[in-house]
Amino acid sequence: MRGKSKKVPVRPVKLDEEFADVPRLFAHDGDLIVSHVVAALSSVFPDGEDFFVRSVRHYKDRIEDPELNAAVLGFIGQEVTHGREHRAFNAHLDSLGYHTKFVERLTRRGIAFRERHSPAIANLASTAALEHFTATLAELVMTSEETRESFGHEAVRNLFLWHALEEAEHKAVAFDVYQAVGGGERLRILMMKIARYAFVVSMSIQVILGLLLDRETYKPGRLRKSLAYTRKQPLFSRESWNQLKAYERKGFHPDDRPTGDLVELWRERLFGVDGAMTESVRGAA
Ligand SMILES: [Fe+2]
Ligand SMILES: [Fe+2]
Repeated sequence: MRGKSKKVPVRPVKLDEEFADVPRLFAHDGDLIVSHVVAALSSVFPDGEDFFVRSVRHYKDRIEDPELNAAVLGFIGQEVTHGREHRAFNAHLDSLGYHTKFVERLTRRGIAFRERHSPAIANLASTAALEHFTATLAELVMTSEETRESFGHEAVRNLFLWHALEEAEHKAVAFDVYQAVGGGERLRILMMKIARYAFVVSMSIQVILGLLLDRETYKPGRLRKSLAYTRKQPLFSRESWNQLKAYERKGFHPDDRPTGDLVELWRERLFGVDGAMTESVRGAA
């Protein structure tokens, strides 16, 4: 395990009541595409995170390092909480007309199929790769004011900020487990290559279908305005793509990108210095 061991605290965050007044186009300035991108991401999180938990838990008994073992418990606790809160958010989005529950079911079935046919070590390699996705996204959320602003509604921004902080806190856990159980470099890199394209293709399909089914898309000038705004977002920059690709370098480790200071900053902003919760992360952005 490279770098200092990191605390992975499980926090009793509950945001569901705050989702009640999230409007349909919740993103900044009611942006159409960003609302659909955020909904698409949230739709795949709960079942994706359940998969991450199962993939890591499978190897739990083979981890000898007590610090890594403690980090695994924290990782599981954090991912379970993320799944619960994103399911609550998805239920609200579904009630507003998004197809989030349908996508959740589809994701669950796709993952179940994969788990029936894929070796456990490949599942863990995919988990480590996808954790690099969430860590990359997390870093962006924590560093870019523009990205935080793009979420629009405060409850959505808080959900993604809290999630971002915890993704950064546990970003190396699945990776360290993969290495501790003897996972090799070739499989690790291959799984990232597959994940990178599969993720982009599946997200694009989801967003395009969502837009096609959204009446708002057909209002004059609406899509053009949203395209202009979306194109400027750091999420879709070459830099983010390169940060993802860095994972495919031999010898890569998630701690190659130090994010400790960023984690400290957001721990303090969201939860106070002593880790106590501040008004259920309200007003934290
Ligand atoms: Fe998560
Ligand atoms: Fe994660």
